[in-house]
Amino acid sequence: MTRWIVRPAAKSDWATIAAVERASFGRLSWGEASLRDGLSEPLVSALVAIRDGGAEPHGFTLWRTLGDEAEILSIGVRPGARRQGAAGAMMAAALEDARAEGLRAMFLEVDAENVAARALYAKLGFYLVGRRKGYYRNGHDAHVLRKDL
Ligand SMILES: CC(C)(COP(=O)(O)OP(=O)(O)OC[C@H]1O[C@@H](n2cnc3c(N)ncnc32)[C@H](O)[C@@H]1OP(=O)(O)O)[C@@H](O)C(=O)NCCC(=O)NCCS
Repeated sequence: MTRWIVRPAAKSDWATIAAVERASFGRLSWGEASLRDGLSEPLVSALVAIRDGGAEPHGFTLWRTLGDEAEILSIGVRPGARRQGAAGAMMAAALEDARAEGLRAMFLEVDAENVAARALYAKLGFYLVGRRKGYYRNGHDAHVLRKDL
């Protein structure tokens, strides 16, 4: 079982985050410039997952504070490192950080056809609070999910 270390992203991680994001989202990638803008926003927190004893991030999570709520903006894990608990570890850390900030709920949008992500969020206790038809550039609907903190 891989043990993941989750820590705040440093500026030196940004190029790796951009590569993992590109590999994770393909045509729907934000692109490096938008990603860097997002990473620089004051209310945005970025986490990376590193294998215990390793150095290179294999996953990233971006979330932000909106009033007394948190929102996951993006999460991705390098294709070769999936299904080993990296996303679960990052989500647990983001939820813990949001709780520590006194926030009352975490929200996110997920492609209704993204089986892996929907299973991840269901396992973490997120539940459906809304649907947005044709929300994504590929025409897919979004599910809006919430977890109370
Ligand atoms: C979704 C994603 C972040 C999951 O990352 P991951 O590190 O592989 O996830 P984990 O190993 O922590 O999985 C945690 C749980 O999520 C669920 N899950 C993850 N991948 C799954 C898959 N391919 N099929 C079904 N369930 C899956 C399982 O319940 C899993 O627990 P288990 O392995 O004990 O069964 C990863 O597949 C990814 O980067 N996808 C492309 C980008 C993306 O879709 N991001 C989400 C946008 S909302």
